[in-house]
Amino acid sequence: MKRAPALPPSRFRVARVALLFWCLFIGIGAVFGAACMLIAPDGHLLQMQNMLPFFQVLPFAKYLFQDYVFSGIALLCVNGIPNLIAAGLLLAKKRSGVVCGGLFGVTLMLWICIQFVIFPMNVLSTSYFFFGLAQAATGYAAWVFDKQESFAVDPAAYPRVGTNKNELVVYFSRLGYTKKLAYETAEASGAKVCEVLADTLTAGTLGFWWCGRFGMNKWDMPIKPFTEDVSAYEKVTICSPIWVFGLSAPMRAFCRAANGKIKRADYVLVHFQKADYVNAAREMDALLGITRESVRSVCCRHGKRIQDHRL
Ligand SMILES: Cc1cc2nc3c(=O)[nH]c(=O)nc-3n(C[C@H](O)[C@H](O)[C@H](O)COP(=O)(O)O)c2cc1C
Repeated sequence: MKRAPALPPSRFRVARVALLFWCLFIGIGAVFGAACMLIAPDGHLLQMQNMLPFFQVLPFAKYLFQDYVFSGIALLCVNGIPNLIAAGLLLAKKRSGVVCGGLFGVTLMLWICIQFVIFPMNVLSTSYFFFGLAQAATGYAAWVFDKQESFAVDPAAYPRVGTNKNELVVYFSRLGYTKKLAYETAEASGAKVCEVLADTLTAGTLGFWWCGRFGMNKWDMPIKPFTEDVSAYEKVTICSPIWVFGLSAPMRAFCRAANGKIKRADYVLVHFQKADYVNAAREMDALLGITRESVRSVCCRHGKRIQDHRL
């Protein structure tokens, strides 16, 4: 029997499950607390009978905080129902669940800030503040991972690629941003596209840190054999992401191996920060043993192009 191809590890799925946990944990806890307050407005079910005096510093305390009815309704409306709705949206795989789940983490932190003002320092409030922080951070991570993983490039959408036998576009890409730039560049000139593949871990969170190690040390990263003869082309466009303020390690290895073989070169540098990274272009010149004809520097965040200019 033929096995279905294994799905690539998804950081988004992991973050979504973690966010679902937080939404359910906070939501169910808040509904339970609110129910106890509404069933026993004197607070005895939660052993909070002696805590009402702390609430008297709040505005309208004479009307709202003589028992726990208003607090129960507020807890239900601010933390209970919203978190359960976010959990439902996450279970239904709606993107809005990610945004709501993250935002309700912020709501929880604000709620706890009120407790910091009225109660003396205590473990429970402090813990819940950090739970809110964890929920908000998980929501943000899930949002970023979703953006990254839904950024796919379909080569079929670039029909002119490969029609010009004199030009080649070479790229390395972890998440697909540089790949998209490579295909767009090749679509404009009709160049053939070739990918440089790393021969070590680059995917996922572990891959990110592993790449960072190579980036920090300015090392070459081992790459899979590159079979295309770059000297057969009139012009080669080299597209590289920026790693740790410089050239990405797989493209460093590629450029070193291509020394003296490329006649004319253009560079496309893709990065997150709004910087030019002309230093990476200089390093590529030195490694290849030529002077490039042009450099395009593209700042790309979560799939959106923020800045795109020639240096
Ligand atoms: C290890 C590592 C280090 C990075 N360092 C930088 C950096 O110093 N400056 C920057 O603007 N972007 C940095 N980035 C972000 C990438 O340049 C950016 O996300 C790029 O769009 C990734 O392209 P790709 O999806 O084609 O791999 C780094 C990315 C990784 C993986």
